[in-house]
Amino acid sequence: MRNHFHNAVTKALRVFLALGVSAALNGFCADTNSVAPAQTGSAIPTLQIKADQVTAKVSPMLYGLMTEEINYSYEGGIYGELIRNRTFKANATNAVFWNAVGDAAISLDPNQPLNDSLNVSLKLDLKPASKSSPEGVANGGYWGIPVKPNTTYAVSFYARAASGFSGALTVSLQGTNGKMIFASAEIPSLTGDWRKYEAKLTTGKVAPSKDNQFAITTTSPGTIWLQQVSLFPPTYNNRANGNRPDIMQLLADMQPKFLRLPGGNYLEGQTIEQRFDWKKTIGDVSQRPGHESPWHYWSTDGFGLLEFLEWCEDLHMEPVLAVYAGYSLRQEKVAVGDAMKPYIQDTLDEIEYVNGDTSTTWGARRAKDGHPAPFALHYVEIGNEDFAERASTYDARFTQFYDAIKAKYPNLQLISTVADDQPESKRVHSRTPDLLDEHLYPSTEGEMEARAHEFDNHSRTGPKVFVGEWATRVGSPTPNMAAALGDAAWMTGMERNSDIVLLESYAPLFVNVSQSRTRGGSMQWASNLIGYDALTSFGSPSYYAQVMFSTHHGDVVLATGSQDIPDYTWQPPARRARDGVQPPPPAPRQVPSLFFDATRDRRSGMIFLKVVNRNGTPQPVKIEISGVASVAAEGEAVVLKADSPDDTNSIQQPTKIIPVAEKASGLGTNFTREFPPYSVTVLELKTR
Ligand code: AHR
Repeated sequence: MRNHFHNAVTKALRVFLALGVSAALNGFCADTNSVAPAQTGSAIPTLQIKADQVTAKVSPMLYGLMTEEINYSYEGGIYGELIRNRTFKANATNAVFWNAVGDAAISLDPNQPLNDSLNVSLKLDLKPASKSSPEGVANGGYWGIPVKPNTTYAVSFYARAASGFSGALTVSLQGTNGKMIFASAEIPSLTGDWRKYEAKLTTGKVAPSKDNQFAITTTSPGTIWLQQVSLFPPTYNNRANGNRPDIMQLLADMQPKFLRLPGGNYLEGQTIEQRFDWKKTIGDVSQRPGHESPWHYWSTDGFGLLEFLEWCEDLHMEPVLAVYAGYSLRQEKVAVGDAMKPYIQDTLDEIEYVNGDTSTTWGARRAKDGHPAPFALHYVEIGNEDFAERASTYDARFTQFYDAIKAKYPNLQLISTVADDQPESKRVHSRTPDLLDEHLYPSTEGEMEARAHEFDNHSRTGPKVFVGEWATRVGSPTPNMAAALGDAAWMTGMERNSDIVLLESYAPLFVNVSQSRTRGGSMQWASNLIGYDALTSFGSPSYYAQVMFSTHHGDVVLATGSQDIPDYTWQPPARRARDGVQPPPPAPRQVPSLFFDATRDRRSGMIFLKVVNRNGTPQPVKIEISGVASVAAEGEAVVLKADSPDDTNSIQQPTKIIPVAEKASGLGTNFTREFPPYSVTVLELKTR
């Protein structure tokens, strides 16, 4: 567990070194344990860890990922495809994101399509042209096409030609003015019927850049049609139709245990028609019709159900499968009873596609799609945020799905999307869900800290909890250090209570930061864990807090106690006006500024103490450990800290705030340690 994390950190440090930012190394592997100065005016806080008292097991599935098509997460994000609107279906009237080259006339043509799914094509009417000034069409990708040195790109497309067109086509990677050609290849001729063409483009010793385009050009006059124009860079694990390696590596460094898929709102769609209709997302990509995502852009569904599952496989995660439960965001719903039966059947088929062996209908279909081995599946979520349905039919819808799924798969754990934080009338009463999915997105600084102890008093008898979407939404497009501190405070609460909080996943996971405005840009939701443009990616401070928690914990939670925890005055956010009347501002509250929890690995004896100091001053803390024979004087600390809560990472400064591993000394069963301002620390204590 730890080694992997250190790879991630040392990789980030290597980047720093390469940038000549040697200050980043200050303190790395240095002994930073300090003797606490006396605190004037207040007692030094004390933390007690009772190493022989286990309060809970740490859920082995606790840390995971949540994902959906939002902020160009798949297309324009993790999915390797570089061509935007490759199927020409993003807009019904115009070939958006495509530009004519030379005097070519381009238009959408519904006649003689490739097939019923891709039922329109791009028509190019071409005049005679020359090599120095060819005609054709170009695509600028998702805010650029990345060109890297000595890299091979896979081109494929379907084409047909009208009689009279007899020339070759040139495919190329080029600068946006078409003058600089990085790589090109020839397709010698086309036929009158649709055929698939493929080529490889290999770059030489070029500087990495992203303000580029992909072009298909010719010098011959006539008319040709194109469909499914695709350009793939090398992918993670070299999967065909696979994922972008840099983003996959950031995720791998989190060591996530599960992936909640496919959404979010993306599961439900704005309308029933626009739901994630999984059967239309499998098989040959040229047979997938695509659909409008609820975040107002087109999805080709090249990233479909099997791609989600292979993503899980690549990162050793389990899918947490969210199934469409008959409710879409514009309040469209399917009536419970007979009308729901086809949707129930779709769900049973979907589960079989995921975990059925090849003797089953849908297991066999998965094998035909290229993956004979079934995927492990233990959790199925019925719908998404069904508390938003005004008619409150979730209890009845959940019941119909629950009964059908449990009858066939009694061991699957079924998750309700309405938790106890929602009104009684919205919750499930007729059945007992195995887990309840809670979502929280506070956007006021300090709110997560104020809520960090919520689970301490949670009922231990009801369903378990999946915190399936949550984030401190401070900072955009990605969260800043203030958010990371709130997140870390909240995570101490989840980890301490992971006997009931079995799974957690931050959301949203991704944002393309190329045009980070929420209307018409590359971002539909501010504050996202990982940012990227066409060329590079980075983790936010919140990302690094997640990495620290998910890669540094034991298998049991230890009993802890504390005295003299410092606090500060927090102003809760104003409540919403109702009927034009603004309620009075809520009273300020005293909220802790120091958070902690302790877990222990029972095999090695190692104690992982996490401490969050959300204050702007160094915080000395006395630490007392009982129930162990001894604690080694030397240990390790991993520290994430910033000079200001507003500090953040970005494309320009991707590793400004990263965790740094330090040697820690002066440890024992009774010691004092100073925690830096605005910091998250994992202290690793070797015990006997
Ligand atoms: O994470 C963004 C959105 O927030 C999800 O799609 C939805 O489930 C929630 O409202």
